[in-house]
Amino acid sequence: MKGVVLSGGSGTRLRPITHSMAKQLVPVANRPILHYGLSDMAAAGITEVCIIISPQTGDDIRRSVGTGADLGLDVSYVVQDEPAGLAHALGCALPWVDGDDVLMYLGDNMVKRGVADVVDDYRDKDPNCQILLTRVDNPSAFGVAELDDRGQVMRLVEKPSVPKSDLALVGVYLFDDSISEAIDSIQPSARGELEITDAIQWLIDHDRTVNSSVVRGWWKDTGRKEDLLHANQLVMRDLEPDVQGEVIGGQVRGPVQVAAGARLIDCDVTGPAIIGPRADLRRTTIGPNTAIGARCELLDASVEESILMEDVTVHGWRLRSSLVGRSTRLRGAAPSQFVELTLGEQCEVIGE
Ligand code: DAU
Repeated sequence: MKGVVLSGGSGTRLRPITHSMAKQLVPVANRPILHYGLSDMAAAGITEVCIIISPQTGDDIRRSVGTGADLGLDVSYVVQDEPAGLAHALGCALPWVDGDDVLMYLGDNMVKRGVADVVDDYRDKDPNCQILLTRVDNPSAFGVAELDDRGQVMRLVEKPSVPKSDLALVGVYLFDDSISEAIDSIQPSARGELEITDAIQWLIDHDRTVNSSVVRGWWKDTGRKEDLLHANQLVMRDLEPDVQGEVIGGQVRGPVQVAAGARLIDCDVTGPAIIGPRADLRRTTIGPNTAIGARCELLDASVEESILMEDVTVHGWRLRSSLVGRSTRLRGAAPSQFVELTLGEQCEVIGE
């Protein structure tokens, strides 16, 4: 079995962060989201992986993943010229898949328990397609499945305004080579995309076997800021304390990781929290559920329930539920209360 990871698309829901970076590279607990899916594939024994990239952000993805050797993978790249839909993206990779079975993983999704179980299940039962489902509160934001009395998938609808069930499609799909004919047979949807849900519906309508299973453990589509912050919180639930950097004065409580080369002077840190390499924090309060990227510089600041990407500077500000892009600086006379911000890369925010 081969793996295809979809890391094209435009990431409109995460703007302004995604004006200048791929949404799949936004860090969760200081690790790009995309790397979690790639590690899941390696853990399931899938070593040949093709990443679909866009012309705009493809180079960043290539730089971040490289040959994949660090993750135990052999990674190839295919450019999708425009974000013409998930089925179109998979279609771009099919010449590379070359008739093998394929696991398709959406590059902005995270699955707590990985994909090894579902790969085993697929190999056991040998259907034409296997999908993963989970119950959600807002099914209209997803592909939605309707099952019959025996639990067989009858119908899939992409982002229905009136959903017939609360079972959403998770961004992990397994296919045999019949997906090729399905993709060739469908038409673009009302939003102009070749939908993977329509391709799977084609398989159902043409009497192919489409199995489904409900995911155990959490699953996250990190397409929006609140989902990202929630993913950050979920991943850090399992954080093992590990303080390698220097902690001088102050207090560190709960599961906290401080990377080598980081320095905390007179700081108060409540885990779960993770502080990246060479971060420099002074008289600052951190956590819980906070990830501070490499080389961030924080002085007289407070940050909780937030993600600060690499090289962020915060002097005096109090941030909560915030997502701050690389190399952004917040300084000057800060508001006295906590603020919730979403800031892109290289912004300069100066208080009055
Ligand atoms: O997250 C699960 C949901 O993912 C499913 O429930 C939906 O049925 C499925 O259509 C998909 O919906 P999204 O609206 O969340 O898909 P999004 O546009 O965010 O794209 C998912 C990933 O695929 C993301 O990493 C970007 C990438 N992509 C997307 C498009 C449209 C591509 O590589 N090429 C594309 O053309």
